[in-house]
Amino acid sequence: MKIRSIIKSVVAIAALALSLNLSAAGPTTKNDKNMKAIIVYFTHSGNTELAAQKLADVTGAPAVRLLPDRPYTAADVDWVNEQSRCTQEHLNQSLRPALKPLGVDLSQYDTVFIGFPIWWHEEPAVIRTFLDNYNLEGKELYPFCTSYESPMSEADATLQKGYPKLKWHTGLRLPASADTIKAWIEK
Ligand SMILES: Cc1cc2nc3c(=O)[nH]c(=O)nc-3n(C[C@H](O)[C@H](O)[C@H](O)COP(=O)(O)O)c2cc1C
Repeated sequence: MKIRSIIKSVVAIAALALSLNLSAAGPTTKNDKNMKAIIVYFTHSGNTELAAQKLADVTGAPAVRLLPDRPYTAADVDWVNEQSRCTQEHLNQSLRPALKPLGVDLSQYDTVFIGFPIWWHEEPAVIRTFLDNYNLEGKELYPFCTSYESPMSEADATLQKGYPKLKWHTGLRLPASADTIKAWIEK
């Protein structure tokens, strides 16, 4: 009787050790429950911040806001004015408005959600600054946007064209339901 219970204990301990080892070594695919994800977003008037919060609720990932060194004023985002800052940053695609330090070690994350408002049918220039300044190679990148009406596909195209070495997933325009967000990530 005693020997049987000892054997049972040894088998249970071995099974536990095996399962712990497997989960530690675990796969690193995008569907891996152990994937470490972070949400990095830019917002001017708050819509993308709400979207980032929803994404944080659904994924459990922390959200960090990208802050330009020089904040955008109302005059800066006047797209009707050809001289405004946002129009100039759209017309001259080499411009990279400086960002404040993110304050996060991105090497700790294998998945990065990158959120922004659509400006001129594409990602704002500050997103390009972020992509230039941080090493995102090899990470799973999930872009998301908010907009009046422009689809995500236009920004997907400019991001993939501008940064072809990065691992882009098809982006998502928010707001969207929790189910839509989950399906997007698991695709
Ligand atoms: C400079 C500028 C350009 C914009 N260009 C577009 C556009 O091309 N297509 C569109 O649907 N919305 C456009 N919008 C609207 C924003 O994408 C939309 O209001 C977005 O949700 C704002 O996000 P935020 O509140 O996080 O800043 C533009 C807004 C600004 C300020």
